Amino acid sequence: QTELPTPAPTMLQKSKVKVLLVVVAVQFAVIVLFFQLQSHRQSPSAEEEPEARLHVLVLSSWRSGSSFVGQLFSQHPDVFYLMEPAWHVWEALSQGSAAVLHMAVRDLVRSVFLCDMDVFDAYMGPGSRKQSILFQWPVSRALCSPPACGAFQRDDIIDEDACRSSCNQEPFAEVAEACRSYSHVAVKEVRFFNLRVLYPLLTDPSLDLRVVHLVRDPRAVFRSREGTIGDLMRDTRIVLGQQWESSKEQDRHYRLMEAVCQSHREIFEAAQALPASLRSRYLLLRYEDLARAPLAQVSRLYNFTGLHFLPRLQQWVHNVTRGRGLGQHPFHTNARSALNVSQAWRWSLPYEKVARLQDICKEAMALLGYRPVLSEREQGNRSLDLLTTMRPLQPSGPGP
Ligand SMILES: *[C@@H]1O[C@H](CO)[C@@H](O)[C@H](O)[C@H]1NC(C)=O
Ligand SMILES: *[C@@H]1O[C@H](CO)[C@@H](O)[C@H](O)[C@H]1NC(C)=O
Ligand SMILES: *[C@@H]1O[C@H](CO)[C@@H](O)[C@H](O)[C@H]1NC(C)=O
Ligand SMILES: *[C@@H]1O[C@H](CO)[C@@H](O)[C@H](O)[C@H]1NC(C)=O
Repeated sequence: QTELPTPAPTMLQKSKVKVLLVVVAVQFAVIVLFFQLQSHRQSPSAEEEPEARLHVLVLSSWRSGSSFVGQLFSQHPDVFYLMEPAWHVWEALSQGSAAVLHMAVRDLVRSVFLCDMDVFDAYMGPGSRKQSILFQWPVSRALCSPPACGAFQRDDIIDEDACRSSCNQEPFAEVAEACRSYSHVAVKEVRFFNLRVLYPLLTDPSLDLRVVHLVRDPRAVFRSREGTIGDLMRDTRIVLGQQWESSKEQDRHYRLMEAVCQSHREIFEAAQALPASLRSRYLLLRYEDLARAPLAQVSRLYNFTGLHFLPRLQQWVHNVTRGRGLGQHPFHTNARSALNVSQAWRWSLPYEKVARLQDICKEAMALLGYRPVLSEREQGNRSLDLLTTMRPLQPSGPGP
């Protein structure tokens, strides 16, 4: 039997192998086609939502004109704006200190930049909610116009009070939908106290961040805060952390100013130390420069953030900085006197307080170009200009 020759593969067997190969090939082709179709089906929605959005963080402190700067972004028809979304973090975690809450604040701001509004779930009660649950929502023009609300047009200049009465029933889901429909997302925050905590956002490949650092003469901030100590008490306690308990009541105001001045100094110095590619993402803006030359400064601000200074917005800025237009305009003062108001501390603060504050804030003041007064006489001398030009280390915009 062993002699029996093993039969050579017959024609029939050969053709079976061919058929098998063809079947395998066809199956392979079908699978490839299937995956191609799948990925094709996904691509239109990816095109709907280009990830080329630009993100603007207005980094400031209380009473520094940041509401006005926030409005400059909010009223621009290309910008989705939220004012102080991290208010919700401090509200929910008010036992924490600013340093401890930094990370939570940063993560919330990052999610807002990415239009992921589910992040607010952590800080709000469960259940369905309306967009009106957001802190200061009617100052956001985007939440007062389509797709969030049909009561106004996207390119209207929208007044906060008019929006509050017309758009307060819109569901919370509209916030994310509205956000996704804009090329720019801007956030104003007073709850960051150094630049280090923002490094991950500056280098995050899913973000294209611009930081606008808004500062104001600490003597004017001090005076402006004096009338509002009650309102800002909780925030002051969070800023001071453990220092709150160990400070005498009359010293807390100075301690807070110390923290504010120190944070402005740290942010400014850290920005100068950034590598050139990141330094061009930082812009310093002084409130006083804005009050002196609003159109020029707004133009600089828009250019830095890639926004066009539309003629209608130029008219609006002209109006609100001269006390016309919106009834309760953003400088919260008869605007011709915005400058006068920024000098009001000179005749309403006693020199001893001014001297103490200047001592606490001297490094920050020297760095940012605020000249100290050396006597009561200098303080009262209105022809003495206390704003000096900045040292030339200030980058002027998107550099090379
Ligand atoms: C910003 O200014 C530069 C230089 O003046 C100019 O080329 C650019 O078009 C401006 N960008 C916008 C958005 O206006
Ligand atoms: C600016 O003020 C003028 C005169 O009061 C007014 O007619 C105009 O509508 C205002 N424009 C804007 C954009 O606020
Ligand atoms: C500035 O304010 C002071 C004090 O309220 C007032 O006496 C002065 O006349 C004002 N000056 C201008 C130009 O409005
Ligand atoms: C006020 O300041 C100006 C500018 O430095 C100076 O020329 C003037 O002498 C000062 N006036 C008084 C009364 O000190």
